Amino acid sequence: MRLTISVIKADIGSVGGHTKPSTRMMAAVEGEVAKAIDNGLLIDGFVRHTGDDIAIIMTHTRGEGSSEIHQFAWKTFLAATAVAKTSGLYGAGQDLLVDAPSGNVRGAGPAVAELSFDHSLSGARPAESFMVFAADKCGPGAYNLPLYLAFADPMYCAGLMLPPMIKGFRFHIIDMDNTAGDSVIELDAPADGYHIAALLRDNERFGIDRIVSKTYGEVAVAVSAQRLHSIAGKYTGKDDPVAVVRNQGIFAAPEEIISPFAKAHFVGGDARGSHVMPLMPVPLNTPVTGMYCLPIVSCVGFSIDRDGKFSESYTDFFDNLAWDEVRQRAQRKAIEMRSQGWSGAAMLPYSELEYGGFRDTVSGLLKRFRLREEPKPQAAE
Ligand code: 13P
Ligand code: MG
Ligand code: MG
Ligand code: MG
Repeated sequence: MRLTISVIKADIGSVGGHTKPSTRMMAAVEGEVAKAIDNGLLIDGFVRHTGDDIAIIMTHTRGEGSSEIHQFAWKTFLAATAVAKTSGLYGAGQDLLVDAPSGNVRGAGPAVAELSFDHSLSGARPAESFMVFAADKCGPGAYNLPLYLAFADPMYCAGLMLPPMIKGFRFHIIDMDNTAGDSVIELDAPADGYHIAALLRDNERFGIDRIVSKTYGEVAVAVSAQRLHSIAGKYTGKDDPVAVVRNQGIFAAPEEIISPFAKAHFVGGDARGSHVMPLMPVPLNTPVTGMYCLPIVSCVGFSIDRDGKFSESYTDFFDNLAWDEVRQRAQRKAIEMRSQGWSGAAMLPYSELEYGGFRDTVSGLLKRFRLREEPKPQAAE
């Protein structure tokens, strides 16, 4: 069976400010997903939130970019938006940026990460397991560093030295500034490792789109790499990417994939999407209530049975004592960074504020600049 995992995620309203979706919104989405499983559109589905973003994780056989799957997600988000509006919630429908997308919802606001594979539970994949990352208050390249380390650096993934992975992985990197369409370059790790780093260091412009095994041609990773403000033409909340990552066997193991997140590395995001703050790993369904508005990321893991259904339980990877230590460190890093307020590296550069109110403030001031008159040379006595 050719199986597709689709993750489609949107911020469509939240309680008490941009913290979390309401219980009724979650129930509305869960109800629609249950119906779609019953009527055979989906093989399986799972709903969770990270901050105020609701992610629908689905398996099906309709392929990537299927208009039926995408339209289902869009209509489901519209139904939850209606619930949010009725309750007067903040930002109702925020990420639904167009009136009615025809077919695919990529470029319409929701974050989309999808990958497909032959699902036979034999050969290179005698068992199929995967993880889904979902981030909130976070820029589009938030996974650049951790996924590079997991799939290109044996200091983090010693498994890269094993025969199934030693030929490395092909990174598909997207230029998110190209509004003409998806502009992608393919570079191989380890051979092109420094070129990959030269692009991925810029989290706001370049993002990992997918990662593919060089040995098996199997896709390991799919990421939703798109900038919301490139779509909307103005600031409409942070990009908040999602990623699907297949693990074990011919791919990195879960601990090799999540250990780079122990860095709590600095990313663009946080309050008004305009600061540089550490990415804090959190359990599923965590609201954003900390003293700042830290970028957060959750990670859920599933196995998939012969029919494409999820295992009856899931693993909540960051819901663990080990990550409490990282959360404390993320908070300490945040306090350090935020102690310098708006100055320099603590906030995103001017270009990233381009469509925000901060830009308007500066534009107004730019109009008031005047060339200083040079002092006249003194006449010789
Ligand atoms: P959201 O993308 O969750 O709306 O957050 C953006 C923001 O501006 C937080 O202050
Ligand atoms: Mg929001
Ligand atoms: Mg959000
Ligand atoms: Mg957002």
